[in-house]
Amino acid sequence: MDLAGKRIVLGLSGGVACYKAAELTRALIRSGARVQVVMTDAAEHFITPVTMQALSGQPVYRSQWDARIDNNMAHIDLTRDADALVIAPCSADFIFKLAHGACDDLLSTLCVARPASVPLLVAPAMNVEMWLNPATQRNVARIREDGIRVLGPGAGEQACGETGMGRMLEPEQLLAEIIAAFQPKVLAGKRVLLTAGPTFEPIDPVRGITNLSSGKMGFAVARAAREAGAEVTLVAGPTALATPSGVRRIDVRSAREMHEAVLSQVDGKDVFIAVAAVADWRVANASAQKLKKTAAGDVPSLQFEQNPDILASVAALPAAPYCVGFAAESENLLQYGEEKRRRKKVPLLVGNIGHATFGSDENELVLFDQDGHRHLPRAAKQALARLLVAEIAARLA
Ligand code: C5P
Repeated sequence: MDLAGKRIVLGLSGGVACYKAAELTRALIRSGARVQVVMTDAAEHFITPVTMQALSGQPVYRSQWDARIDNNMAHIDLTRDADALVIAPCSADFIFKLAHGACDDLLSTLCVARPASVPLLVAPAMNVEMWLNPATQRNVARIREDGIRVLGPGAGEQACGETGMGRMLEPEQLLAEIIAAFQPKVLAGKRVLLTAGPTFEPIDPVRGITNLSSGKMGFAVARAAREAGAEVTLVAGPTALATPSGVRRIDVRSAREMHEAVLSQVDGKDVFIAVAAVADWRVANASAQKLKKTAAGDVPSLQFEQNPDILASVAALPAAPYCVGFAAESENLLQYGEEKRRRKKVPLLVGNIGHATFGSDENELVLFDQDGHRHLPRAAKQALARLLVAEIAARLA
């Protein structure tokens, strides 16, 4: 429940992407938010207030002259207890209104009358030529200067049949951006490099050795670092997980590829977080051709050699970033965790209690640093990732 207790005013202006606002409303509510929908006249041509009321569970407001609020001040009252105002979809015309402070309908008036403490996030949605038009671009630049956060737009096929920039971001991308807007920017201006997921060590062109790491913890830490304002590069082993919004991802397979990718990216980074479950050994006699079964039933004999220790090699660099290691232990975590922190020469090591965490959405962590250890009790990996990011930021400061 990333938005538990948050009150969000969701404004819809006119556009085909109004259909995505229905899904966004459900996603916000699933995340624990209370959603108050406000629609412009144009939005009503694309989706009905009945649908939005049914999905949000709240009456939908459409007019400045709506008398349902006791003091008849809907344009003021609706944002007074709000945590954020989100306009999705935000049309070219609505961006124009925001850029000029127009107050000619309920939604535009709400934007102007909102307290300065209520962030305004807008998700543009329009035809590619409308988006690229210099007047629109001028208006977008102006609303950004005013501190309005512009989410997207994305590129792709559009409802009008043309292709290009102007598609509204998908509901789950908008949800991620809205959640991010509420996170403290404790890593603003910092550059973070991470590894995540398993590695895959080939035996032959179609077979290999891997492990049960899902990548979920590493991806959660990448998302949390991005939410905290960092520029994030994620070197990922084989996993089908979606890239967290705003994170630069480099896909690799083997430990050696991961090592190379990390060394090519590490320059200028402030923090390196090694979450990947890197294979300790690779097959030394991997075959260039697929190994064949023989009639005699011979089995291949594999020889192993040690993989590079990525974390230790980064920690040993002359201008090493602040290094954070992970350790999955099945027993004696308190002893092994501290030993591993010293052996890898890293200031912070994060222990997972048991390897049962692989694939799960929950985890339980112990942080080891020079002052001892600290337990972060069982919780969702994303929630733990945010706590970990806060701990790292405090140590950087
Ligand atoms: O030695 P062990 O594999 O238990 O250490 C775990 C930590 O070291 C993790 O942070 C992991 O990402 C990192 N590691 C690494 N390169 C390796 C092995 C582990 O970066 N070859």
